[in-house]
Amino acid sequence: MSLRVLPLKDVAISRKVKNKKLKTKMTDKPIEWLDSKLKIIDQTQLPGKLAYLELRNYTDVVAAIKEMKVRGAPAIGVAAAYGITLGAQNIKATTKAKFLSQFHKILKAFAAARPTAVNLFRAIDRMKKTTESADFATIKQALIDEAKAIHAEEETATRRLSQLGAKLIKDGFTILTHCNAGALATAGYGTALGIIKAAWEQGKKIEVIATETRPLLQGARLTTWELMQENVPVTLITDSMAGYFLSRGKVDCVIVGADRIAANGDTANKIGTYTLAVLAKENGVPFYVAAPTSTIDLFVKSGDQIPIEERNPEEVTSIKGVRLAPKGATAANPAFDVTPHKYITAIITEKGIIRKPYANNLKKVIIEK
Ligand code: MRU
Repeated sequence: MSLRVLPLKDVAISRKVKNKKLKTKMTDKPIEWLDSKLKIIDQTQLPGKLAYLELRNYTDVVAAIKEMKVRGAPAIGVAAAYGITLGAQNIKATTKAKFLSQFHKILKAFAAARPTAVNLFRAIDRMKKTTESADFATIKQALIDEAKAIHAEEETATRRLSQLGAKLIKDGFTILTHCNAGALATAGYGTALGIIKAAWEQGKKIEVIATETRPLLQGARLTTWELMQENVPVTLITDSMAGYFLSRGKVDCVIVGADRIAANGDTANKIGTYTLAVLAKENGVPFYVAAPTSTIDLFVKSGDQIPIEERNPEEVTSIKGVRLAPKGATAANPAFDVTPHKYITAIITEKGIIRKPYANNLKKVIIEK
């Protein structure tokens, strides 16, 4: 796989220089339920290798989420729902009470997998509620149906929000995006990348600037890979180049995904998002957050209440096992940051494009629609 290298003199992004054809191509869905097992793409191996894993135990699914083989807020929720289903299928119990005592241990294991993406906790909650209303005789089937419903809803929501968001993209736009918010991250059509794909499919001549997204390089590894499959022109930059491109008028809008949106519109997303939002405001560039309503958490009043995952500092001191920093160097690794709502131009959901005041308008969309 090769990416374009821009001429240093002129950073205008030329459509004449095309990305080369990819050797790996996503043929199957990133997450697929195969009755007694869950098939996922191992995202840690991309773009070098398109490897599918077949997970047969819930513990394998918990591990896949922790190790970011499956990642991105909606995809984590979908994988967890199927993982809980897998765990439930393997429970041998003679009464509902005995079933539930084992089932609740499974839920606990998923709840401890990753803390920030609210889609995980929403999926856990829905699966728990399903067992409360189901008869013991049909409880396992009810869980399968609920997991499939969660998956289908994410697919529909991401398609719908992508269509709505594409209306904000004008012909000729260059869009900057961060991390990966495509099919891989959503088990659907994508959020930020869904909007980009929808605009492209509508025939708009757009370009994308993708930030590499240190430390785990979701932008370099996954966003470029997904966009190149759709032939959307994409230029990869390091995170620290974003200000350069924004300040020179090379970006028409920024679109990112979200891991959790608080009731006041403050949004947690991959570390580095806040920096981009401030830079966008400073340079008069619209900053959009795209997310299904399953990512909105009205129980959390503002961004400072969103739990932020701290990951292993080795992800910062090394890349793919190769140490960059001196042995013993101290490193920090918060995986997400919070963008205060004042920096967000609009939040694009499947139920509409939500603008300020977010505290009123988010509630209206979630509760009143
Ligand atoms: O740590 P990750 O890779 O799971 O973080 C993912 C992100 O921050 C995405 O941008 C977010 O989940 C939106 S995905 C539609």
